[in-house]
Amino acid sequence: MQVAGRNVFLPLRQTVLGARRQYPVARQSKSAGTQTNVEQVPPSAAKCHGKMRGWQLHSYGDIDELQLSDKLKIPSIRSSNECLVRIRTTTVNPIDVAMLRGYGATVLNKMRCLPSDGIEFPLILGREFCGELVHKGMGVSESLPLGTRVWGVVPLQASAGAHAEYVAVPSYCISQAPDQLDDCEAASVLYAGLTAWSGLYVTGGLGGPCGATTSSGGGAHKRVLVLGGSGGVGTLAVQILKSQKVQVLATCSARNVEMVRNLGADFVVDYNDCEAMEELCKYAPYDIVLDCAGQGAQKAEELKYDYRQYITFSSPMLANIDQQGLVFGAIKNVGDLVQTNFKSFVQRGGLVKWGFFSPAPHGIEFLKKLVESRKLIPQIDCSFDFAELPKAFERLKGGHMQGKAVVKL
Ligand SMILES: NC(=O)c1ccc[n+]([C@@H]2O[C@H](COP(=O)([O-])OP(=O)(O)OC[C@H]3O[C@@H](n4cnc5c(N)ncnc54)[C@H](OP(=O)(O)O)[C@@H]3O)[C@@H](O)[C@H]2O)c1
Repeated sequence: MQVAGRNVFLPLRQTVLGARRQYPVARQSKSAGTQTNVEQVPPSAAKCHGKMRGWQLHSYGDIDELQLSDKLKIPSIRSSNECLVRIRTTTVNPIDVAMLRGYGATVLNKMRCLPSDGIEFPLILGREFCGELVHKGMGVSESLPLGTRVWGVVPLQASAGAHAEYVAVPSYCISQAPDQLDDCEAASVLYAGLTAWSGLYVTGGLGGPCGATTSSGGGAHKRVLVLGGSGGVGTLAVQILKSQKVQVLATCSARNVEMVRNLGADFVVDYNDCEAMEELCKYAPYDIVLDCAGQGAQKAEELKYDYRQYITFSSPMLANIDQQGLVFGAIKNVGDLVQTNFKSFVQRGGLVKWGFFSPAPHGIEFLKKLVESRKLIPQIDCSFDFAELPKAFERLKGGHMQGKAVVKL
């Protein structure tokens, strides 16, 4: 349990630390009334002081709550290690659909620097992007000159995400985009990729301590079953694992079996075909069963095969706190995890863990190396113009995608 507990709270701790790193100079700047920590604005970024287009949320609800405005204030850099990026492409992920409904608001609002009225709106969703670095703080490395084509992610607690023309992010969230990818492909890798990487290497310890703390990967000759190998996270998980010589089995719907096989999975099963699903017992025990299909921890109880770790990206952690408040929600989280792990350990001899997206620079480096060596090829299901962004949300809600939904600015 100690191991499971440590992994569960690590990403949350990382995100909190990220938030602390992001704001200290902002407070200094406010009191001083100036921003001396920001590198001189180049001519190309002069319009950063103007207005931008972006999709805003003024209350939680459904897709019709998204409102396009062309009068939004361009975000300003508030600390010496922040960067302003002019976005060319972004994506829609399941987390955007969930946040539209208010998912995670209790915890995320605690982590946001909310105004004195305590209201989080307006919010801008969007967790990943490809674009051009147009402005940066003095503390940002010289290896990222202005004008660099970058790819990046937006921390979950940021109120202003990537569904806009500009986004401000801490420099550890971006790096030079790989030349091998066009703008649509480059926007579609990092959020799902860092989720898959963190689940496998941080939560799952697939590559040992080095795999979790460096960009070295690892896990050769282990055996991993990916539930939902055809989605945003699953397509990247399959390719990450194959690149590290891990034996990969995967599930998805019938129409996507061929695609997942082409990504390199050794054995792919249609999850609606009960007979074929029985075949998965032959390959057990699995070192890791990776749930990229929204099945949750309870699914671990239904599996007929043994595993050492069942890692799900659908944790009830934020939802429990939304429903029961910080204290009772946290107690319920611990209770749920203890109960699930007790059953899992007794029945299957394995642990159940919750995996999370983690904006770790060495995770970004790991994914970049795979792209550069052509071992990771992003899968794009569909793309939309910026004005049609709600259609990308609709497409995602429809399910059965083959990769990501991209939005072009
Ligand atoms: N905790 C975190 O930080 C975090 C971060 C990212 C994502 N997530 C979660 O991770 C999950 C995957 O995200 P994603 O972006 O990859 O979503 P996605 O693109 O919608 O992919 C969903 C996948 O699930 C498969 N699937 C659906 N029903 C299934 C079933 N009954 N059995 C097996 N597979 C099934 C789909 O297969 P077919 O399309 O072939 O039917 C598809 O491969 C989502 O639940 C998301 O919320 C969590």
